[in-house]
Amino acid sequence: SKDLQQPVPFMGWLSWNVWEEAIDEKIMLETAHAAKRYGLDKLGYKYLCLDDWWHCCKERPADGFPEWDQAKFPNGMRYLTDTLHALGFKAGIYSDAAAHTCAGAFASYGYEKIDAKAYADWGFDLLKYDYCGAPPAAEEAQRRYTAMGNALKESGRNILFYMCEWGPREPWKWGAETGATCWRCTYDSRDYWDWGSKANGGHIGVIQGVDVMKHLWAYSGVNRFNDADMMMIGLHGTGRSSSYDAANYPTGRAGMTQEEYQSQFSLWAMYASPLTLSFDIRNISDDDLRIISNKEMIAINQDRMGQAAELVSDTIISGQQVEVYVKDLENGDMAVAVFNRGESTIHYTFYPQQAYLNGKKPYKFHDVWGISQDKMVGAEGYNMQVLPHQTRVFRVSRK
Ligand code: GLA
Repeated sequence: SKDLQQPVPFMGWLSWNVWEEAIDEKIMLETAHAAKRYGLDKLGYKYLCLDDWWHCCKERPADGFPEWDQAKFPNGMRYLTDTLHALGFKAGIYSDAAAHTCAGAFASYGYEKIDAKAYADWGFDLLKYDYCGAPPAAEEAQRRYTAMGNALKESGRNILFYMCEWGPREPWKWGAETGATCWRCTYDSRDYWDWGSKANGGHIGVIQGVDVMKHLWAYSGVNRFNDADMMMIGLHGTGRSSSYDAANYPTGRAGMTQEEYQSQFSLWAMYASPLTLSFDIRNISDDDLRIISNKEMIAINQDRMGQAAELVSDTIISGQQVEVYVKDLENGDMAVAVFNRGESTIHYTFYPQQAYLNGKKPYKFHDVWGISQDKMVGAEGYNMQVLPHQTRVFRVSRK
């Protein structure tokens, strides 16, 4: 239908984790040129988004209209979005459903129509709409998001509405009613594997995100997606959000292994979460590029069925917690992921019956990360090795 803004999860880049309030026009444009040079646009990473603190000031200007920081954006927002559009990208902007944003700039509550119209006039294609400083009741959140959802619809421009409410009000149950296409289901993901009981202050590790996302598969569908927050790949312990938060990290420092970054990418793709990068993509290492440009993994995320992977097994194998996910794909294939949360290598047998296939006739298992050769697998199952924190992913077809 023509109302469908974004039938598949959006992909792109957000400025927050790496730049926080230091984001400006120069960085945005260098980011866009680099994204083009690395071919990220062709892979689907289309939305390049300003996050918090593009604003002129803490308080809304006296005329009631929003204003950007003239020093940071000397040529203005229209110049920025025109340039992004000319390069083949879309442009995102950020606000909040209260008086102030999370980082303390003026926000949109009570000014939804004025702001939506301004974002449209400025040429933006996406709004990330946060919930800092707003009342806790779910009904009020719904009202505030609906007010902005309606304002965006009336703005005269097709602007993808991305709710950022972090999960306590279960936005997966009502987000689509506000006009949103996707909603954050978790607190802010940090560049760390597992915060354990230290998870606090709205900051979490990958494992805490997984623990929320793994139960939400039934709520995902075409044009309505559960968002697991920006991915940490490429940060490697850098980025403004990593440094100011250092004292809160269980080990006092940020950063993950390449296997862990790849697992996060695989799981976020399986969850049909928007795939958003948050590192300095002006310079991408070969190892990181290999992960973020895996076309087969991206295709699983971008599948037009819009299904999130169902958690079909959550069990202990050789003392390690193992989660198994199955995602239906449009062409009749299935994606299967086996995630070893534990600290030692396991051997796991995946049976076609776990993906609702009877296994009488063998299926082709294609390894998305290229670890094993393609294999025909029947009722005997697929025995695989899974390293600590690794996620093995297969595309299964009935050939
Ligand atoms: C909240 C959001 C983050 C980011 C910051 C900006 O914490 O969850 O993703 O947008 O605000 O201040």
